[in-house]
Amino acid sequence: MNPELLQAINGHLELEFEAFYTYAAMSHWLDLNDLPGFASWMRDQSTEELAHAQKFIDHLLERDQHPVLPAIAKPPTKWESVTALVTEVHESEKLVTKAISDLCDFADKARDRPAQILLQWFVSEQVEEENMVQALLGRLRLVGDSGVGLLMVDQELSQGKVAGAMIEPAGE
Ligand SMILES: [Fe+2]
Ligand SMILES: [Fe+2]
Repeated sequence: MNPELLQAINGHLELEFEAFYTYAAMSHWLDLNDLPGFASWMRDQSTEELAHAQKFIDHLLERDQHPVLPAIAKPPTKWESVTALVTEVHESEKLVTKAISDLCDFADKARDRPAQILLQWFVSEQVEEENMVQALLGRLRLVGDSGVGLLMVDQELSQGKVAGAMIEPAGE
């Protein structure tokens, strides 16, 4: 594998692991704030991020390349509001989308077909994730960030739905 591409993929692992860690911390805070739907949704997102990191790692191992695990920074323990939290998730997903796009450029430059195919999956995955987080933010804008409105959105999430649509299972 082209050394620059390998370095870029290893560097990207940090973003996926950071999302895994931060989303887990978010899930805990939501759980402690009596929002089981949000907490379970966020836990699923956290698990998905770990699966993303693993997908990159497996790709490197399959190709006899050495994955280098990053240090992961300590995530925050609380958020100002549910909207602030979901907005942070949205910002984080946009950052990852940009990083995946940069990885695509590296893979194109190296003419690395297997990496291009792997990255195509991530390109589609990011469209799905951003779309889902955007729908959730839209929901929160409509009903507000407290009381019965927030409870309604929490119940929707408990039923595996965002804005009335079923959440796709991970990786589909
Ligand atoms: Fe991810
Ligand atoms: Fe993500």
